[in-house]
Amino acid sequence: MTDTATNPDVRLTTVGGEWWRTAVIYQIYPRSFADSSGDGIGDLPGVTAHLDDLASLGIDAIWLSPFQRSPQKDAGYDVADYCDVDPLFGTLADFDEMLAAAHARSIRIIVDLVPNHSSDQHAWFQAALAAGPGSPERARYMFRDGRGPNGDEAPNNWESVFGGPAWTRVTEPDGTPGQWYLHLFDASQPDFDWSNEGVQESFRDVLRFWLDRGVDGFRVDVAHGLVKQHGLPDYTPDPEAGSMGGNEAAVPYWGQPGVHDIWRDWHDVLAAYDGDRALCAEAWLPTIAQTALWVRRDEMHQAFNFEYLETDWNAGALRRVIDESLRAYGEVGAPSTWVLSNHDVVRHASRLALTADTPQGAGIGPKSPGKPDPVVGLRRARAASALMLALPGSAYLYQGEELGLPEVIELPDDVRQDPTWFRTNGERYGRDGCRVPLPWSAEGPAYGFSDTGASWLPQPAEWSALAREAQQGDPTSTLSLYETLLAERRARDLGAGTLEWFDGGSPDVLAFENGGVRVLANLGSAPVALPEGVVLAASEPLADSILPPDTTVWLA
Ligand code: NOJ
Repeated sequence: MTDTATNPDVRLTTVGGEWWRTAVIYQIYPRSFADSSGDGIGDLPGVTAHLDDLASLGIDAIWLSPFQRSPQKDAGYDVADYCDVDPLFGTLADFDEMLAAAHARSIRIIVDLVPNHSSDQHAWFQAALAAGPGSPERARYMFRDGRGPNGDEAPNNWESVFGGPAWTRVTEPDGTPGQWYLHLFDASQPDFDWSNEGVQESFRDVLRFWLDRGVDGFRVDVAHGLVKQHGLPDYTPDPEAGSMGGNEAAVPYWGQPGVHDIWRDWHDVLAAYDGDRALCAEAWLPTIAQTALWVRRDEMHQAFNFEYLETDWNAGALRRVIDESLRAYGEVGAPSTWVLSNHDVVRHASRLALTADTPQGAGIGPKSPGKPDPVVGLRRARAASALMLALPGSAYLYQGEELGLPEVIELPDDVRQDPTWFRTNGERYGRDGCRVPLPWSAEGPAYGFSDTGASWLPQPAEWSALAREAQQGDPTSTLSLYETLLAERRARDLGAGTLEWFDGGSPDVLAFENGGVRVLANLGSAPVALPEGVVLAASEPLADSILPPDTTVWLA
């Protein structure tokens, strides 16, 4: 432990303001990170046990996906109690211990908050079912009468992000077929009505509950969905748009202007606390310019840059999205974020080598066309991460990408758990392939994920070689590459730098300078000559001053 690690207060006062502008934030998907209890599902003590590993990786903060009480119909994104820890993951005391241990290592913690919908097991939804039509209890959710003579048609034609209709009809307390409720996701995830003051007040309390415990901020789930267009008009989504939206304009349930009032309200709640607490929007919107509106100075602090994540492995396209991001976020005084993987998308060590279009959220599986070549995928992933981590702003990493983990494609049908798989009758594989528990050791039960060998999704045998322990100390490993990139990024303060393009000698080469580091990424298929310079980091071994295809180098 370092000196600051023994005195958390020193770290938190010396780190400086607005840490989120430059931070590298590591996403922990708790059920797949590390299992201390042996039940096959990761937990909070498992996180605490590995904080030293994360400190040595060199991250600034952790984003913790949901660990609150939940029936786990959507892996925790169906919350039944926003102010408690699900017993699967531990207790509030485990949370406090983890938070203190993270702060003691100079690692901040942001937690996931799911305000668009609750679980159908939330006390409020149960009360709404019991109370009947027209009641104040129903007014917290989106209950409507059905269409057609007997009200037996859904109130409109909206479809769930996970497939099938976005409405489910309830049986009223007197046993008759009754109203319908809206769920943009699974039927077990009823949408709140955010015009309801009780809902607004309750979420302010939820924010304060976690802020009082000391969290450094929130990642806000479905931030683009809370407000629905007045009158709930019919809308048929574009099948190519991707499950969380993102590519479509004027969708009556995404990106409605009323959400900005909520963010201003929340901004004020956070601003009353010390320590630069931050809000990060999960908002899948059609343009970067539109997403930038979410991070105006009095709203959220960050938004995920999904346009960047969705950009093909193509120099021109990446340059355009980088320029547009720096311009649009810069205009509103916000940092850009950068992200390549998360628990909803095909891991970038596979995605970047796909040879067929895969809509976001659909996943890939045994029968998918255009399966990736794993060697090409890993090579591109290493180059893409080296490119991303040189950019000014804040970067998000998804657990396991520092090991070069690919998407698990060959999962058997009977282990799949994503509601997408069930609601589309197996037509879309969904997201289980990016959620397989991490390999920590090359041998031993569940590759060190649990002591018993239990693992809620099976880990492929090839993951033995990718285990953290197997990569540690090997200078050619993906883990060592990430450690080097993060150390150099921090030492040279690249997150706070500015980017200047220069000519890399080929249209397939992205070349820029940031903070005295020259970065060249060759996205083409031919090698190119490298300028002079000391190599700080390279995503592949270099020889003879040549930058091979699918390789990124940092030069001093
Ligand atoms: C976005 C989350 O990242 C995803 O995992 C979840 O299924 C949906 N929101 C619904 O909460």
